[in-house]
Amino acid sequence: MSIHLIVLAAGEGSRMESDHPKVLHEIAGAPMIAHALGVADTLEVSARVVVVGHGGDTVRATVLNLDEDIRVFEQPEQLGTAHAVSMAAPAFKDATGDAVVLYGDTPFIRPETLTAMADARKNGADIVVLGFNAADPARYGRLITDGNTLTRIVEWKDATKAERAITLCNSGVIMAEAATLLRLSATVGNDNAAGEYYLTDIVELGHAEGLTAKVVTCSEAETLGINTRADLAVAEAVFQANARHEAMVNGVTLQAPDSVYFSYDTHIGRDAIVEPNVIFAPGVTVESGATIRAFSHLEGCHVGSGAVVGPYARLRPGAELSNNVKIGNFVEVKNAQIGDGAKVNHLSYIGDAEVGADTNIGAGTITCNYDGVFKHKTIIGKRVFIGSNTMLVAPITIGDEAMTATGTIVTRDVPDGDMAIGRHRQENKTGLARRLFQKLRAAKVAVKKG
Ligand code: UD1
Ligand code: CA
Repeated sequence: MSIHLIVLAAGEGSRMESDHPKVLHEIAGAPMIAHALGVADTLEVSARVVVVGHGGDTVRATVLNLDEDIRVFEQPEQLGTAHAVSMAAPAFKDATGDAVVLYGDTPFIRPETLTAMADARKNGADIVVLGFNAADPARYGRLITDGNTLTRIVEWKDATKAERAITLCNSGVIMAEAATLLRLSATVGNDNAAGEYYLTDIVELGHAEGLTAKVVTCSEAETLGINTRADLAVAEAVFQANARHEAMVNGVTLQAPDSVYFSYDTHIGRDAIVEPNVIFAPGVTVESGATIRAFSHLEGCHVGSGAVVGPYARLRPGAELSNNVKIGNFVEVKNAQIGDGAKVNHLSYIGDAEVGADTNIGAGTITCNYDGVFKHKTIIGKRVFIGSNTMLVAPITIGDEAMTATGTIVTRDVPDGDMAIGRHRQENKTGLARRLFQKLRAAKVAVKKG
């Protein structure tokens, strides 16, 4: 199937009560319009077109950032969905083939559904509309059918009582030959209750010309549209439920699925285990057989096969853990490559660093990577032992099989095989503790009597 995608995203979305355009509000870490456009990822799409209006500049920038090949058109005034489609006409001057209209605020339309619509086109329907049976049809447009044929779509505002009783509703997704879609959209009038140019009117106009229209149906969840923050939360929940299910189908153990949050692009390999209360922010890949323990937060990172992360670990962007790495509790890793089998088990910060294979980083180690203006790099070799509470003042290099003594502040490079000790020598004062205790306890007694 090769098809043109037209995504309408000019509406204001006033019920979001937001300073940001509705379609930029995020679901699973990606703007909802990215989800809507994402349907194209697994389909053969000849072109993607987005119509913007409210907040047009920011929506345009976001869309072009997703893919600079997407064509963006502006609808200066929101005069209706047919008018919005007409704004995209320049993209279709010489276009052959079909086009499908989607909404930027309806993020979950599946590629399989568009394929079913394309099949209906192949089977002779000139116009194919995606419908659904609504539990509560509310203010959706109603699909008026005659046998198998769709004859008209009536908007709720214009519907009679009898038409409002129909539960087969319009999702808004419409497919037709691009030329037909554009031609009919341009002839739609605005003589209706809303005074808008309704795209839905192309069905009746087409029918009058002898074109046939058919309905393909999908589940109501798939056509979920977002108008309010409450809808946004529902959409997030739908996404998460799908993502959890998909992870388990792909062989990931989720001990408490409802407490694990995925992003639009999370990728987790087979036989990985994810304990409760884990958050995958965008950009995370976890290889097979890794374990992500409870209460960990991962973003923009890669976890190698057999690695164990957490509990209570934080992997920030650029954290690259090779196979069998161990990152323990209260450890933060950022922009750092950790070599095979290396361990950072307790209470450490590893940022802007390279850590060699089989190196052990002791509790409380900090890579002091920031001088207040610049970031500097720490390079640690293979099979190194970093003693607890070492401060590695970057830029710094620690050679292979070197050691640092506990509590060392490392300010000079340590060659291979050397031991760095940088701390004050200890002195014991004979009996001083005992004398001090006696003095303090006496003082306490005096205060109580006071
Ligand atoms: C539309 C359909 C209705 C359907 C419903 C499903 C029409 C006339 N009605 O109604 O049958 O049941 O969606 O949710 O099409 N937009 C523009 N420019 C405009 C107007 C709208 O880009 O001038 C965009 C909006 O940003 C939105 C989409 O088109 O993404 C739908 O517009 P909206 O006003 O929400 O249409 P509904 O009244 O919900
Ligand atoms: Ca709507």
